[in-house]
Amino acid sequence: MRVPAAAIHFPDEDREEILRRIDECLKSGQLTLGSIGKELEAEFAVAHASPHAIAVSSGTSALEIPLRVLEASRGEVLVQTNSFFATAAATLSSGARIRFVDCDPATMALDPAAVEAAIGPDTVGVVTVHIGGYVPPSVRELQRICEEHGLWLVEDAAHAHGSSLDGQMAGTFGVAGSFSFYPTKVIAGGEGGMIVTADDRIAEEALIYRDQGKASFLTNDHTRLGYNWRMSEPHAAIALSQMRRLDEFVAHRRRIAARYDELLADSPLRPLEIPSNSTCNYYKYIAFLPEGVDRAELKQRLRSEYQVALSGEVYEAPLHLQSVFAPYADGPLPGAEELCARHVCLPVSAIMSEEQADLVVESVHAALAS
Ligand SMILES: Cc1ncc(COP(=O)(O)O)c(C=O)c1O
Repeated sequence: MRVPAAAIHFPDEDREEILRRIDECLKSGQLTLGSIGKELEAEFAVAHASPHAIAVSSGTSALEIPLRVLEASRGEVLVQTNSFFATAAATLSSGARIRFVDCDPATMALDPAAVEAAIGPDTVGVVTVHIGGYVPPSVRELQRICEEHGLWLVEDAAHAHGSSLDGQMAGTFGVAGSFSFYPTKVIAGGEGGMIVTADDRIAEEALIYRDQGKASFLTNDHTRLGYNWRMSEPHAAIALSQMRRLDEFVAHRRRIAARYDELLADSPLRPLEIPSNSTCNYYKYIAFLPEGVDRAELKQRLRSEYQVALSGEVYEAPLHLQSVFAPYADGPLPGAEELCARHVCLPVSAIMSEEQADLVVESVHAALAS
């Protein structure tokens, strides 16, 4: 491929440092819940302006844990339908009932009007997702609606490391935010996740839940139905190294996105509009295809004729149309159905060149024209 769909980047000096730290863990035998994890938590908390950050085993557990602390199982949770499987799966695993809610196709974010209309007597909270790393101004509407109706708001910020709105960091708009260090994310840990919260009780309980529900590390007193949601020290070493590159990686991604914006100014491909008060990390660069274009065929042609791989969609199909969630789907959600079908994600990475971005756009234009 002349342009791959994604590129995971560990500079040589970072690989050396990661190996040195892992070697230290091997020598000390401190392989989980140790000092590297603590360092990662401290730096992540500072970078996201959050009083607490709790490292866990995945982005999925980073979402399920706060939902358990919030006792989501007492009622129904409104979940954005254009998201990854794990958003709904973690919510269901917490014991909650779920109701899928439509998004606003203009922002790809949860539609506040649809949320308001979906609130029922059993609704206890809302899970919103910052698709592609974009924190939209409508998140403030969600905050207001939740406050008015006595609901909590949790952010699935798996895509949104380092993103912000009016200078406020992703993950800090709700009572808790969850991040993922899955390899394709803006910063990778191999596996891993992070919970951020300003709520002391959620933070304290999260420490209990992540370690088999034990009241403390050294006791065998299990006070909550936790699980093995710990982050190992080798994973923490990888994520910490990437954490220290976050600003640099996001700055590079934003340069590539700015190049795409420039090249797509008069294009039939219409980029997702991001207002200037929102700082997107460009986990994904999202654009909408003209009507009538067969996305699968276009992607296939870009690969075979131009050696350009587009990134995976966010998402190809909304959750209410996934067969596993059929029992929870109650009717069409046209906004999400339309945008899931119509968008593409142009490749972006921390090491992609502007020349590669030019090649992507030239190739897409040529493929659309022929
Ligand atoms: C929106 C969203 N939520 C949750 C997750 C789950 O994260 P993880 O794979 O780290 O469990 C992912 C990523 O994979 C995601 O994209």
